[in-house]
Amino acid sequence: MSTHNVWTHKGTFLLAAVGSAVGLGNLWRFPYLAGENGGGAFILVYALTIFAVGIPILIAETMLGRASRRSPIMGMQHLTHTHKTSRAWESIGWLGAASAFLILSFYSVIAGWALHYTWQMLTGSLAGADAETIGAGFDALLASPGLLTLYHTLFIIASGLIVGLGIHRGIESSLRILMPALFVILLVVLAYGIATGDFAAAASFLFTFDIAELSLEGWLEAMGQSFFTLSLGMGAIMAYGAYMSGEASLTRTAFAIAVVDTAVAMVAGLAIFSLVFGAGLDAGSGPGLMFVTLPLAFAEMPFGALVGGVFFILVLGAAISSSISLIEPVAAFLVERFDLTRPQAVTAMVVASWALGLLTVVSFNLWAEGTLFHALFGRSAFEFIELLTNIFMPLGGLLIALFAGWALTHGEVMKEMRTNEGWFATWRFLVRFVAPAAVAFVFLRSIPQVEGYLIPAIGALVIVGAFAAGRTFLAEPSQER
Ligand code: PHE
Repeated sequence: MSTHNVWTHKGTFLLAAVGSAVGLGNLWRFPYLAGENGGGAFILVYALTIFAVGIPILIAETMLGRASRRSPIMGMQHLTHTHKTSRAWESIGWLGAASAFLILSFYSVIAGWALHYTWQMLTGSLAGADAETIGAGFDALLASPGLLTLYHTLFIIASGLIVGLGIHRGIESSLRILMPALFVILLVVLAYGIATGDFAAAASFLFTFDIAELSLEGWLEAMGQSFFTLSLGMGAIMAYGAYMSGEASLTRTAFAIAVVDTAVAMVAGLAIFSLVFGAGLDAGSGPGLMFVTLPLAFAEMPFGALVGGVFFILVLGAAISSSISLIEPVAAFLVERFDLTRPQAVTAMVVASWALGLLTVVSFNLWAEGTLFHALFGRSAFEFIELLTNIFMPLGGLLIALFAGWALTHGEVMKEMRTNEGWFATWRFLVRFVAPAAVAFVFLRSIPQVEGYLIPAIGALVIVGAFAAGRTFLAEPSQER
């Protein structure tokens, strides 16, 4: 059964995809990774991957959604059927649903931290505080399972309410208000950073580079980040693509998403580092950059509490516009497959993901060490879940690229892309060869981190994937390509 849902306007897909792409990945993860990995060199690899690998896969994933007009799981079932390929390709849909479920569980907990800081900033409780006080405040937040659960619950309920209202009344109408507001706030924070901070130091940190400075780990991290930030390989883009107007251009839209997403990361980086350097603080403080270093910078600046509060509202808004795109693919599947009402489907997804999120909550306190996860995998439950998503997303991206590149016919792709032969050939070369090679490389990054138990599992996954690919290519030698 097809969903028959289409966005109200030709441009809504762009709005929704940008909402999905721009999130904690841009505002929290990108600046701290760039800070830890020496600035400019990291950004170079990141931007190259976005344009050479990210955009082709973005086009491929949107295309699979729009061609099937179904949720990712049902959509892949439909496409394997109509293309007479191996059913193993349906794993794209299942992997995506699993990733969405896993990512939402910890994304919501971390977004919850921003809720805490919005409150702290706006009530002025951090004004004039010193480094020790602010650091201790962050530690105290992480040490409290009750507070973390409270914020996690509030955030996930808010996300669920939006998706529960439907794609028009919920997702579209909230994004139409949220996204412009976010861009205005981002520019205000940038202007504030330029006025009160050290913009020159930030710009030279981010845009001058010595490629030799970048470690192998840094390279891989930059590539992994470019998948996460574009929401690739897990069905969010496919689900939104299923509602995309047949008129909108795939290529132009994909470019626009990548450009806006990259621009937001750069502007956020410039603003944050202006403030951090202006306050004489260190860029390389890791995940605490936004929650310890930045509040400290705000504490010392004029009107810091107010601008800081507005900044954390920006973080929250960006996070919620991404988390709804994690709920939609799974909720749409439950509606199509089991005939649930939308509120029922959203509730099922949100409650399950919320419960899994409790594992992330306790990973910072009660279960910070000495658990079964530490014994088996050498890491906390949260780190283990994050590791799984770091494997699933590139794997999903790889399979999407292969399926779109090899199984879809020339005619079908041209119908969706409506471009000239030159662009078509470039795109197909990128998804057939360049993207899979690059993704395999990103994917391998997780291998050295993986302790004994997982290696056979990953090996098996790779073999299943290769087998599925082989079956497809060999089964239909006569197919028009
Ligand atoms: N792209 C989002 C961000 O940068 C995260 C995300 C990943 C959202 C996957 C949806 C799907 O924060």
